Amino acid sequence: MTPTLHLRPPQTPPLTPPPSRVLRLAAAQFALLPQAAEAMALGMIVTDATRPENPIVYCNPGFERLTGYTSEETLGRNCRFLQGPDTDPNELARLRLAVREKCACSVVLRNYRKDRTSFWNALSVTPLADADGVVTHFVGVLHDITPMKELEAQFLQAQKMEVVGRLTGGVAHDFNNLLTVINGFTEAALDTLAADHPAAAMLAEVAAAGERAAGLTRQLLAFSRKGTGRRTRADLSATTSGCEGMIRRLIGAGVALVVRVGTSMGSVAVDPGRVEQIVMNLAINARDAMPAGGTLTISTLSADVPNGAPHHADVPPGRYAVLRVTDTGHGMDAATRARIFEPFFTTKPAGRGTGLGLSTVVEIVRGAGGHVRVESEPGRGTAFTVYLPQAIAAPTDPVPDSSGEYRMRGWEVVLVVDDDAPVRAVMCLALRARGYTVLEAADATEALVLARTHDGPIHLAISDVLVPTASGAALAGELRAARPGLRVLLVSGYSGETEIDEGPDAAFLAKPFTPAALATKVRAVLDRT
Ligand SMILES: Cc1cc2nc3c(=O)[nH]c(=O)nc-3n(C[C@H](O)[C@H](O)[C@H](O)COP(=O)(O)O)c2cc1C
Repeated sequence: MTPTLHLRPPQTPPLTPPPSRVLRLAAAQFALLPQAAEAMALGMIVTDATRPENPIVYCNPGFERLTGYTSEETLGRNCRFLQGPDTDPNELARLRLAVREKCACSVVLRNYRKDRTSFWNALSVTPLADADGVVTHFVGVLHDITPMKELEAQFLQAQKMEVVGRLTGGVAHDFNNLLTVINGFTEAALDTLAADHPAAAMLAEVAAAGERAAGLTRQLLAFSRKGTGRRTRADLSATTSGCEGMIRRLIGAGVALVVRVGTSMGSVAVDPGRVEQIVMNLAINARDAMPAGGTLTISTLSADVPNGAPHHADVPPGRYAVLRVTDTGHGMDAATRARIFEPFFTTKPAGRGTGLGLSTVVEIVRGAGGHVRVESEPGRGTAFTVYLPQAIAAPTDPVPDSSGEYRMRGWEVVLVVDDDAPVRAVMCLALRARGYTVLEAADATEALVLARTHDGPIHLAISDVLVPTASGAALAGELRAARPGLRVLLVSGYSGETEIDEGPDAAFLAKPFTPAALATKVRAVLDRT
C-alpha cells in the first residue's frame, strides 16, 4: 500500500532568518548559531540532498552522545545505520516519501545506538533551500523520548492489570456463590448421613475440596485487590503461613523458601486479604530480584518500639506485629532505594512489572497506621520490614468452634434476601434445620413488602451486599425504618471497594460460608447486646 502523507509545499526556511527574529542579534553575533547547534542537548544532523544517498555532512555533539557514534563514524553515511529490527516500516515509509518529495516530516522511530541498545527517537526532518528555492540539505533533530514511552507502556500495563483485576474479581464473586451452594449442600447432606454411611467419606472429600476452592477464590480476590475491604483483623502469622503454598508455586524451584512465623503476636487491624497482598507482593519482588536463584526468607515477629528508640526513628513508639521479607538477590543502590515505593517505578524489564506492587504495599500499610522500611545494597540482597500496629483487643464474635460446641440453634425469625435461588436455599435450609423461622425474598422490593406485612416480629435480616433493585446497605436502612431495632447481616462474595464496618446493628459474612459458619454468625449477631 502506498503510504499517505499530507504533503506541505516545500516551505523551506530562507538562508537568512527574517529580521523580526534576529533583531537583537548583531551581524557579529550571528556566528552564535553554530555554537548553539554544538551546545544543544538534542541530536542534530544536516544531510546533503544534492548527493546520492543523502549523506550526513554535519552532526552535533548531542547526536554523538545520544547514539554513541563519533562524527568520524557518522559523516558521509545515510542515517539508516541507526535502524534495526524494531524500527517501524510504516514510519520509515513516511520518512522516505518526505525525503523524496523534499517535505518536512516528524516521525517516532525505534533506533539503535552503536552498542545496539535501542531508544525511541522523536525525529523531525526539515528541508533547507538555497537562494533560488532549491532544496540542497535537510536538517534533522533527534529527541530521545524513551522515558516517556516507558511511562506510557507502564501506564498501559497498569490499565491492563486493572482490567484483569476486575475480571478476576467478577469471576471470584460468581465462584463464591457457586461454592456457597456446593459447600453448603455438601455439609447439609453430611449432617443427614450416619458417620459410617459409605457416601459420608466421599462427601467429606467433596467438602475438603470445596474448602480448598474457597481458599483459592480468597487469594484471587486478594490479588485482584477486590477483597471485601472490611476493616477487620488478621493474624499476621496465620495469614503469612496461609500464603506459603502459593508463594512456593510463584517463586519456582530455583529459589529456596524459609518461612518462620512467630506466635502470640496479637492481631493487626487489616483485612486478611490485604495482608496476603502485602506478603505476596513482597515475595514476588524478592523472586524477581533473584533471577539466578537464592533464598527468600519470610518471618513474622512481635516488636515493642519504645520512646526514643534510636534506630526506629521513622517508626512511632508502640507494639507492632512485624513482617520481614529478605532475599539474597541483586540488591539496590541508594538512587533505586529512594524511588521503589513510587507508583509506576519499576526496575523490571518491559512487560514484567507494573511498578505498582510496592506502592500498593505502602498504601495498605500506611492505611493501617504502619510503616515499611527497606535495607539494601547492590549485590547484597534486600530486606523489607513491615511494621503493623497490633490491634487493641475489641469484643468480637466468638470464633466458630470446629467441635460444634458453640451454640448455633435459635428460635428467632430471620428474613433471608438473595436473588440467587440456590444460595438462598442453602441459607434457608441451614437456618430452618437449626430451629429458626425463615422468611425468603428474592429482591429488595419483596423484602420490604415482607418487612411491612409480616404479622409478628422479625429479629434479623440477612441480605447480599448487592440485591436487585437496591444495595444491601440501602435495603438495611429501609428495613430498619420499617422495623426499628432489626439486626442486619450482610453477606457477599465480593463487595468491590465498599467498606463494610461491623457495628452493633450490622454484621458481615464473606461468601462462601458453610451452613455451620452462617448459623454461628447468625447466633452471634442475635446475641450481641
Ligand atoms: C535529515 C535527516 C535525518 C534523518 N535521521 C534519521 C534518524 O535519526 N533515524 C532514522 O532511522 N532515519 C533517519 N533518517 C531517514 C533515513 O536517512 C532514510 O531517509 C530512511 O531510512 C528512508 O529511506 P530508505 O528507504 O532509503 O532507507 C533521516 C533522514 C534525513 C533526511
